[in-house]
Amino acid sequence: MGADGLLYEGKAKKLFQTENPNVLRVEYKDEATAFNGEKMDEVAGKARLNNELSALFFAKMNAAGLPTHFIERTSSTEQLVKKTRILPLEVVVRNIVAGSLQRRTGIAEGRELTQPIVEYYYKDDELGDPLLNEDHIRLVEAATPPELKQMRELALQTNEALTAAVRAAGLLLVDFKLEFGLTEDGELVVSDEISPDTCRFWDEQTREKLDKDVYRYGLGELTDTYEQILERMGGSVS
Ligand code: TMP
Ligand code: ASP
Repeated sequence: MGADGLLYEGKAKKLFQTENPNVLRVEYKDEATAFNGEKMDEVAGKARLNNELSALFFAKMNAAGLPTHFIERTSSTEQLVKKTRILPLEVVVRNIVAGSLQRRTGIAEGRELTQPIVEYYYKDDELGDPLLNEDHIRLVEAATPPELKQMRELALQTNEALTAAVRAAGLLLVDFKLEFGLTEDGELVVSDEISPDTCRFWDEQTREKLDKDVYRYGLGELTDTYEQILERMGGSVS
């Protein structure tokens, strides 16, 4: 650990210790990456936008009674969260075909799914975050069967809460990625971040992409897009 309490530095965020052993401070970074870090840019203003948007979405989840690690936003680029042990899985929920589901199945982008699909990816950069099924998850011990069942239920409940929240702003929730952690008390909570880096949002009318795909595929200015999401969602609430 660094003298400043730095515990971990990732691509988009830094994690610091606080005086409270059960609370961490997250500092968002002005860094955009895609394709497992192959594409990387400093983007002024991204830290504030993702901090505000993540705080906004987590606050909506907390208000809906869904367990998250989020406590409060403390500055334009920082928020306090409960300390958790992150499970090494990325849980993706999909409502509309896009991204790797399109590539894996050959089904055209934009097909609405009759029911949401939940996928699990193993958080392992060297392996390239492979898709796992429930038997693989048991094999690598990424989560216990009861944890997996609870993650799936919470992911689907999050899908309902977030879909309703963004629909009111004229947006479709195409898909999103969640990470889960266990608190000191052993409670399973949604951790990490919820932002246009980790969700796909399309305009309901035009189906314009309003998320990190604009950066991944060079479709527009990332900060203009994220600012539009923040404005449509009514600005910061916490
Ligand atoms: P995918 O279609 O590339 O599998 O992405 C599904 C969703 O997960 C999409 O909303 C973007 C999000 N995602 C992340 O948050 N981090 C990642 O590393 C990847 C690959 C996807
Ligand atoms: N989050 C990953 C990266 O930063 C991949 C992505 O979102 O496309 O490299």
